[in-house]
Amino acid sequence: MEKENKERNIKWHKPRITKNERRTQNRHKSTLIWITGLSASGKSTIAVELEHRLHKDNVRTFVLDGDNIRHGLNKDLGFSAEDRKENLRRVGEVAKLLVDAGILTIAAFISPYTVDREAIRALFDPEENEFIEVYLRCDLSVCEIRDPKGLYKKARAGEIPLFTGISDPYEAPEAPEIIIESGSQSLNECVDKIICHLREKAII
Ligand code: ADX
Repeated sequence: MEKENKERNIKWHKPRITKNERRTQNRHKSTLIWITGLSASGKSTIAVELEHRLHKDNVRTFVLDGDNIRHGLNKDLGFSAEDRKENLRRVGEVAKLLVDAGILTIAAFISPYTVDREAIRALFDPEENEFIEVYLRCDLSVCEIRDPKGLYKKARAGEIPLFTGISDPYEAPEAPEIIIESGSQSLNECVDKIICHLREKAII
């Protein structure tokens, strides 16, 4: 990488304010909470509620949400394995900047492939618990009944190709930091579990 950057005539410019100085000023650590799961498993709902609870506690937060990011930064990308990889690569880089900025970042993406999630994990410091993978374990049948956007119905009718869970794979995380049974637990229970983990790890 160093050699490659030299060939491209680019050099890392060191900031004067460090990540730790920003964290000290904020009085909490920054980390990336990565929420993965099927469409309609509750990712966005949990992300928004979690942010609301943290914000009330004076934690500086930001939510990166799959649907929203695909409106702007990633509007050029679709749902092939290659496009999903690029979607998540860009989001990982944005999240890294936010974590560097001292923000407790919450990302809600289907992120169906283990390899793509692990590539994001590799950007962060495990000693500092900077990457917390939250797996929303929710049966496909529950997601299909919920179907808030009507997408499963369309996918079953063959109107959406490569739809996760129907005509495209979802690889469940093998060793996530947190597993949430979002098909059966209440929203408050789901959010409490994440907040407890953040307290246990002294992030907040
Ligand atoms: S990811 O696989 O690349 O992580 P992402 O979370 O950004 O996906 O976007 C998923 C959202 O896009 C879903 O919530 C759904 O609203 C929409 N969507 C449209 N087409 C598909 C598809 N083929 N598979 C999954 N989600 C889709």
